[in-house]
Amino acid sequence: MKSKILVTGGLGFIGSHTVVELQANGYDVIIIDNCSNSTEKVLEGIYNITGIRPDYENIDLRIKNDVVDFFSRHKNIAGVIHFAASKAVGESVHNPLLYYENNLSTLIYLLQQINESNQSNFIFSSSCTVYGEADSLPITENAPIKPAISPYGNTKQVGEEIIKDVCFANTDFQAIALRYFNPIGAHDSTQIGELPIGVPLNLIPYITQTAIGIRKELSIYGDDYPTEDGTCVRDYIHVVDLAKAHVIALERLLNNKANTNFEVFNLGTGIGNSVLEVVQSFEKVSNSSLNYKIVPRRSGDVTAAYADTTLANEVLGWKTSLNLDQAIASAWKWEQKINKK
Ligand code: WQD
Repeated sequence: MKSKILVTGGLGFIGSHTVVELQANGYDVIIIDNCSNSTEKVLEGIYNITGIRPDYENIDLRIKNDVVDFFSRHKNIAGVIHFAASKAVGESVHNPLLYYENNLSTLIYLLQQINESNQSNFIFSSSCTVYGEADSLPITENAPIKPAISPYGNTKQVGEEIIKDVCFANTDFQAIALRYFNPIGAHDSTQIGELPIGVPLNLIPYITQTAIGIRKELSIYGDDYPTEDGTCVRDYIHVVDLAKAHVIALERLLNNKANTNFEVFNLGTGIGNSVLEVVQSFEKVSNSSLNYKIVPRRSGDVTAAYADTTLANEVLGWKTSLNLDQAIASAWKWEQKINKK
């Protein structure tokens, strides 16, 4: 068994797929998750894929003493991949303090403990939302960080700044921030996938829930954007491709291959697709027609965002292998599994 890796939020959508890839690469994984946006049943899904049930502790990282206690009991952690955070853009606007507490105080308590251990390797789950409405496309890691348009986006920007300052103060502390574009899809085994609570905020689960009959119709938020078909453009990346990038980034730190002790990488396909193109892709892979209507724009949406993947491809040595149709087909297969059509 290779090194022991802590995955916070490891029962979540991206976290669980990353745990599977870590185990597939021989890592010994321990998960911390407070199940505020996930369920312990995900452990069974991970086990059914890899045959290894990861260690798991139900800890709320907002309780500093519990974080200190965890690290007092686990001295041999070689790396940490930090997913645990709230991530609903709209919710963050209405409840900013929940986001600042849950996304930043937990990060600080984690960093305080890791920073004291001699093996400090930290992977941070960041987001393309830090770029806001980018001035040019595709978006590179040097694109200016725009003022956040939501407290959620601000917690990612501030989170990166906090980590950068820790790296500056302690050159033995190594970190990589991974800026995700739009993660979609599910593991092909249909053992794990996205489990949105309540009405899905994101496009793909709303599409699959409409198709399976849970939702009446998809509302497309605006078709008057300055894009080819008027709908917003995003970079939809298969969650398994995204998970594999985390293992590669972690090993870059474990093997001391990083150029500096704080690096940032965009994780996307490099391809932008509009909402209507996503709908067309779904209709093709599901061989069905989707009920949808055009409604006014959603506040906070940017017109277009897709990644320049040069740094991830050439420096990190990672690139996506699954395309939009494959990602959407996996999401549909998962939806049919969990809501038995
Ligand atoms: C995509 C497009 C909507 C729902 C998300 C996360 C954010 C970050 C990036 C990780 C937009 C349109 C959506 C619907 C629609 N990920 N849409 N009808 O807003 O790009 O951001 O990915 O950090 O945290 O929130 O993703 O899926 O909500 O929207 O028309 O019912 O689909 O307007 O153009 P978004 P999304």
